[in-house]
Amino acid sequence: MYDHWKQIEEEMKSIRAKNLYRQCKVTDGIDFCSNDYLGLSKNRDIVHAFKEALDTDTVGSTAARLVRGHRQTMEDWENEFSSFVHSGASLTVANGFIANFGLIDTIADSRTIIFTDRLNHASILDGIRISGAIKKYYNHLDLDHLEEQLIKAASSEDSKSKKKIIVSESLFSMDGDKPNLQRLVFLKKKYNAILILDEAHSFGIFGKGGRGMAFADLNQEEIESIDYRIYTLGKSLGLEGGIIATTKLGREHLVNRMRSFIFSTASLPAIYTAALKSLSILRDMDEERIHLLHIADILRRNLLENGFSISPSVSHIVPILMESEEQALCYSEELKKKGLDVRAIRPPTVPTPRLRVSLNATIREEDIQNLVSSLIQIRAGKKANV
Ligand SMILES: Cc1ncc(COP(=O)(O)O)c(C=O)c1O
Repeated sequence: MYDHWKQIEEEMKSIRAKNLYRQCKVTDGIDFCSNDYLGLSKNRDIVHAFKEALDTDTVGSTAARLVRGHRQTMEDWENEFSSFVHSGASLTVANGFIANFGLIDTIADSRTIIFTDRLNHASILDGIRISGAIKKYYNHLDLDHLEEQLIKAASSEDSKSKKKIIVSESLFSMDGDKPNLQRLVFLKKKYNAILILDEAHSFGIFGKGGRGMAFADLNQEEIESIDYRIYTLGKSLGLEGGIIATTKLGREHLVNRMRSFIFSTASLPAIYTAALKSLSILRDMDEERIHLLHIADILRRNLLENGFSISPSVSHIVPILMESEEQALCYSEELKKKGLDVRAIRPPTVPTPRLRVSLNATIREEDIQNLVSSLIQIRAGKKANV
């Protein structure tokens, strides 16, 4: 007879045996792992705005936005955000995961072909899966490979009439690298595809006023030709929520069709008031942005000079590549003992194990030196123990 719990027990045993066991650990030590890139989660003005909003409204929104969960502050926030990122409109949902998942599920079906970078976030891949679309992976950042696949689809009688969607992150969360955005936009136009660009990790850091990578790499016309841009409140903005920036018609369509929007209680109204405050602060944080990219340069240089392997990062996300899951866990544990919070990231989140160092603007140059010398000490200790 099938025994569900026995099966689960076996699965957990196998996870442990492969050093892939995960557990939630209470936050401790200097933050080298969160996505709070500008330190705004701790900003007192944002906390204050949130508290004030709590005093003037219900705590929970009480219903889905199409029922009684909608508020003026949600409209104010979406208008302000749309104007900041120059989109016709935007729709805020529970989080970035739901933004990708729900959007793709809404605009794709079994007659759609979706071209996805192999390393796109789980929320994108799961959205494709749930939509029933045909999935075509292209190799990470390899837009020649993407074009080959687009050509193939354009030349097949069966594929010609299908809707085509290209989806990519603008800054990859686990590697800190980025695609050639101009070419992505060029390909989307040439092959008449919809383009979804996930700006989760570049927003707040890149582009004028932290508007994201599209603003760093593209002109206005190119930005406007991106059909959907995904942002999250959970990273640089220091809060929680996901945003889909699109046209007015695109938003209207999602409000009428996106199941994870329609059938879910709206977020706490106070989040939107806090988001307005957070955005008003974020746009003026050029000094922090410069500092953040400066310490990332220092970290990359120091790691390479000291013989560590890193991914081809061009950003504040600097993953240190590890030989095994066990090694990644061991470094992470030893760093924790030294008061440095760096997490081991292992399959299936990434294909190969690594320490994902994600920097934030509150980190000082001394903290970077401390991190590198700690890594060197750990490596020396491990060698001595062999
Ligand atoms: C590229 C990307 N998109 C979307 C998300 C999901 O965003 P959220 O954490 O707001 O659910 C993440 C989360 O890490 C991400 O890395």
